Amino acid sequence: MNMKFIGVTALLMAIPFYAQAGAVSELEAEYQTQGAGPFSASAGEALWNKNFINTKTGKERNCTSCHGADLTKVGKHVRTGKAIKPMAASVNPQRLTKVKKINKWFVRNCKWTLGRVCTAQEKGNMLAYLKNL
Ligand code: HEC
Repeated sequence: MNMKFIGVTALLMAIPFYAQAGAVSELEAEYQTQGAGPFSASAGEALWNKNFINTKTGKERNCTSCHGADLTKVGKHVRTGKAIKPMAASVNPQRLTKVKKINKWFVRNCKWTLGRVCTAQEKGNMLAYLKNL
């Protein structure tokens, strides 16, 4: 194996990590301009697992309803039954790499789970939790 090959391989392996750091730090900076921060991974974990009672159905909802209790495993959409790829970036390097995607799902999933949008502080906390999984 020549050095050039090793160099390129190392670079390719590093890209997902840089992409994640890029998208997450971009969002963190955005939340900070909205007055949020510092962010707490433990507060993010608590919110991720917190139960919210849906006013229409009376049933409990939380982020694990679809993503599952173990974020390194495949989740299951609670309504459609569709598989959802693992949330942990350690097993799914695509996670948290695209600002647009993160924003889109934060809106949808916060509304569905909490019955409202999440605040900048809440989103920053959850990213702090998720990014190290
Ligand atoms: C009703 C099912 C459902 C619930 C509940 C749910 N999610 Fe999701 N989530 C999805 C689906 C479907 C996707 C998109 C498919 C995928 O990325 O695998 C997704 C993707 C995401 C993503 C995009 C991650 C990325 O960069 O790839 C984030 C962030 C996210 N969810 C956060 C949350 C948070 C925070 C909660 C709790 C407030 C939550 N989700 C609850 C179904 C759900």
